[in-house]
Amino acid sequence: MNEEPKSEDRRKFLVKLCLWAGAVPAAVISVPVFSALLGPLLQRNEQKWRKVGAIADFPVGSTNLVRFINADPLPWAGVTAKSAAWLRRESETQFTAFSANCTHLGCPVRWEAKAELFMCPCHGGVYYKDGSVAAGPPPKSLAQYQVRITKTDVEIKTAPVPITNITA
Ligand code: FES
Repeated sequence: MNEEPKSEDRRKFLVKLCLWAGAVPAAVISVPVFSALLGPLLQRNEQKWRKVGAIADFPVGSTNLVRFINADPLPWAGVTAKSAAWLRRESETQFTAFSANCTHLGCPVRWEAKAELFMCPCHGGVYYKDGSVAAGPPPKSLAQYQVRITKTDVEIKTAPVPITNITA
């Protein structure tokens, strides 16, 4: 007589155990699925103009490293919200801003003024002063930011993350 309630309890216990055993993997699998579905909605694509200096700070023919805050950084971004670009002053009114990141694997490139080349220290990538590839593994030219000048200042159009693949 006492056997039946025990059997019923065991059955209920096993059913609950199976449900929990199935729920945990389902929850684990659902995280990347929902992330993939919601990812495009949560992407931050906004671009913003940021002042990088006064026009008078950049002599004609010079190439200077300018630093700025990326567009729309996340509150917890910290130093990762900061970015840099190489700003060339081509003439009185014309500026070009190159991404400081190599188009191969993203290492920061440096400007060698005497050679008039951008050099990537990671795998020997070399770019001409117009940003085009001179040698090494980079698959394409340095990305460019849009640049505009106001009455007194130079501004570049920044992205939420450092750019490596967009052009002006
Ligand atoms: S990251 Fe610049 S050459 Fe590889």
